[in-house]
Amino acid sequence: MNESIFILQGNVIYTKEPGKFEIIENGYLVCEDGKVKDVYRTLPFSLGAVPVKDYRGKLLIPGLVDLHIHAPQYTFRGLGMDMELLEWLEVNTFPEEAKYKDLTYAGKAYEIFVENLKKSATTRACIFATVHREATLLLMDMLEEAGLDTMVGKVNMDRNCPDYLREDSADSAAETIEWIKDAAHRKYEHTKPILTPRFIPSCTDGLLEDLKKIQMRYDLPVQSHLSENISEIDWVKDLCPQAEFYGDAYDRFGLFGMDAPTVMAHCVYSDEKEIQRMKENEVFIAHCPESNMNVSSGIAPVRRFIEAGLHIGLGSDVAGGATENLFMAMAHAIQASKLRWRIQDERLQPLKAEEVFYMATKGGGAFFGKVGSFEPGYAFDVVVLDDSRLKHPQYLDIQKRLERMIYLGDDREIAAKYVDGRKIL
Ligand code: GUN
Ligand code: FE
Repeated sequence: MNESIFILQGNVIYTKEPGKFEIIENGYLVCEDGKVKDVYRTLPFSLGAVPVKDYRGKLLIPGLVDLHIHAPQYTFRGLGMDMELLEWLEVNTFPEEAKYKDLTYAGKAYEIFVENLKKSATTRACIFATVHREATLLLMDMLEEAGLDTMVGKVNMDRNCPDYLREDSADSAAETIEWIKDAAHRKYEHTKPILTPRFIPSCTDGLLEDLKKIQMRYDLPVQSHLSENISEIDWVKDLCPQAEFYGDAYDRFGLFGMDAPTVMAHCVYSDEKEIQRMKENEVFIAHCPESNMNVSSGIAPVRRFIEAGLHIGLGSDVAGGATENLFMAMAHAIQASKLRWRIQDERLQPLKAEEVFYMATKGGGAFFGKVGSFEPGYAFDVVVLDDSRLKHPQYLDIQKRLERMIYLGDDREIAAKYVDGRKIL
């Protein structure tokens, strides 16, 4: 029998669509050449000789996808949470990110980040690094070595930040090209560059023009921040009076979806015009509910995004969010939606477990292609959960056990992890 085919036996649970769990109790999840071949209730005779890994009693879920996380901010998660976004950037973020000029420091800090991300239920992530090319490549080396599948961005910033961090506009573009070439030389299999203009306040028009040229030349995806916080949005209005809305300030430069696959974090204050443009341009939204609380941004209208048919996934936004644990992000998404419904907008019904789970798997996974589901042809990204620590006096069905994972689970529950059919944990 071909060694690239194997089977995991266990309680399979996933979502094909936002509102409904697919559950196969004590089923068989078949991997062939790194992809899902299919899920079976009873194993077909033809697969009788294929090796079976016994995870009976455990839960098998698709690996979780973090659409927005800042690797250099991992060092100060949980600190300085009494500030609002712009002050938090000045006081916490910029001084810390400046340290990554020093490769020794970057190595130590990124080692902790990568180790913990590997231990988590996250299999794929869109990651911000810093402005530093060398440190970004070091982070990419480490992520590749860990076996995770990621998109990583060297940040671009040529205005409105301290001198010690600000790039000269021409240098920012030139360094970005060098970084892309260096990354190509290293022939990563699971680590891809993603263009990362930090946000509109930190990028001049000239830099955005250059980044568009780079985007087209190297056919790269894009990540950034959008409509996150009231004072930030006011600032963007001052900086770009010609833009119709915040997202238009990116779209004018061709950095807002369409031919440049784009993921935008937050969208707390996206109005109908911005929603419409995101729909037309197929922009992905990274919903980061914990960060939106911690830096006093607000509550994103996720139900509205779902109704409008937008692509939406979850982001931890470490260190805006204090944890990389995406189970917590799912719980926060439900909690935030309930508060929005209760306090702000009764039309927007709260989110359900099967909706936030979809966002954390297939919703965000779509940014990586056929990822986040167990339908045939999807990447074989699987997390095996042993939830026996979360004791309960009664029998609980598979769905209830997953719901409890969302609120109570962390890396102690992770028994194994597969990315593209490779066992990495
Ligand atoms: N906007 C610009 N930079 C950042 C950042 O590092 N974190 C968050 N949450 N928002 C930002
Ligand atoms: Fe962020």
